[in-house]
Amino acid sequence: MLQTARILSTRLFVRTRTSDARRLISGVSSGLPDHLEILGTRYPTDAITNVTPAILSKLSLRLHTQHAHPLNTLRSLIEAHYPDWAHLSSLSPLVTPYQNFDELSFPKDHPGRAVTDSYYVNKDMMLRTHTSAHEVEVFRKGHTKWLLTADVYRRDEIDGSHYPVFHQMEGACIFDADASAMKAVEEDNARLSQQLEQANIVIEDVPHISPTNPVQPSHDARHSELVAKNLKLSLNTLMFKLFGGVAGSSKENPLRVRWIEAYFPFTSPSFEVEVFFQGKWLEILGCGVVRQATLDTAGVSNKMGWAFGLGLERIAMILYSIPDIRLFWSTDPRFLSQFEHGKITTFKPYSKYPSCFKDVSFWSPKDKTIHENDFCDLVRDVAGDLVEDVRKIDHFVHPKTGRTSTCFRINYRSMDRSLSNEEVNVIQSQVVSRLRDQLGVEIR
Ligand code: DAH
Repeated sequence: MLQTARILSTRLFVRTRTSDARRLISGVSSGLPDHLEILGTRYPTDAITNVTPAILSKLSLRLHTQHAHPLNTLRSLIEAHYPDWAHLSSLSPLVTPYQNFDELSFPKDHPGRAVTDSYYVNKDMMLRTHTSAHEVEVFRKGHTKWLLTADVYRRDEIDGSHYPVFHQMEGACIFDADASAMKAVEEDNARLSQQLEQANIVIEDVPHISPTNPVQPSHDARHSELVAKNLKLSLNTLMFKLFGGVAGSSKENPLRVRWIEAYFPFTSPSFEVEVFFQGKWLEILGCGVVRQATLDTAGVSNKMGWAFGLGLERIAMILYSIPDIRLFWSTDPRFLSQFEHGKITTFKPYSKYPSCFKDVSFWSPKDKTIHENDFCDLVRDVAGDLVEDVRKIDHFVHPKTGRTSTCFRINYRSMDRSLSNEEVNVIQSQVVSRLRDQLGVEIR
């Protein structure tokens, strides 16, 4: 599958995911304690518990608040672009599935809910998969213009641009849905348009509203147009602030931004924004006009407005030239000492240590498929950040017995030191025995 298509499907709830992601298998629950203590509270475990110690160890790290960390600097830059907005960054990562999905109008059968895709503490509590999970509660508190930064959690494959914990920033701006407030939006639009005319930026746009990206039934189409336009102008200026220096440094080389129609359960119309960087279009954020149901639930039905969500690692990897997403978690002084708070500098790679790959082939238990995310979580739980990537290199069904055989290649590499073959063998044998014990496979 195309890299971009995969990132789209795993990082934003835009497209329907692969059919096997729909299957609800938990797989990793044997040997589980009755309770888990998470951020000082005890939670009973149940049949769908799939959080692992490796994941839980990340909850308290909050990289977006660590001094001089690239993710923190990027957050500050975005906050500085919206100086009058509320800046929130300390909401707990534990939310209910209701907050994460239902309040945002996700259908009951949305693939993002599957235990193969999300981390559940138990059936009533999960790790947020996106910062949108807090929209209702923040609107309910009375905030009308706000940014929220947080760590989010998604079960995923393992490679240089995917990590099961990453950081998002959610922004929202809502107005009174009346003529005088809409007049102010119109004036703001004129001001922002003028500002953008001075900037070295080329924008490929799509209509604010279209039959495939419709106005909401309860909205006045003219108001929705104005709000969608305000959203685009505001985010175009943000893109110019973030990328203008990197991509649009000369007259012949303007920053190129493009808008694409999208679908999110909690916005309409909805869009994605891409930025042209080093010969490729990179997806930067998702956004749209907030679904009225969200505002109604939050008790602010007299308002309307727009919201966006962006992934900080994605942008920081571009701006700082950081080549591997695991580096954000490094405590190596050769990484951390390179950064100064508030400043974007080019990361100077230090020598990469050699990698070492190991294959494992197994027969799955009868009538069960081992989901790649279950496999990856098990590997990550044993090997932590020593695993660089995992690839499925073979998969077949035995014509006579009907049993499924799968082979995965695990690539081990430390960011900080050389790994010996003996050390990797020890890790690999732990992986193999846990595969046998927890997932019930037969090693070939
Ligand atoms: N929460 C979405 C995601 O991570 C991104 C997003 C899309 C946020 C549209 C928004 C929005 O606020 O309006 O997949």
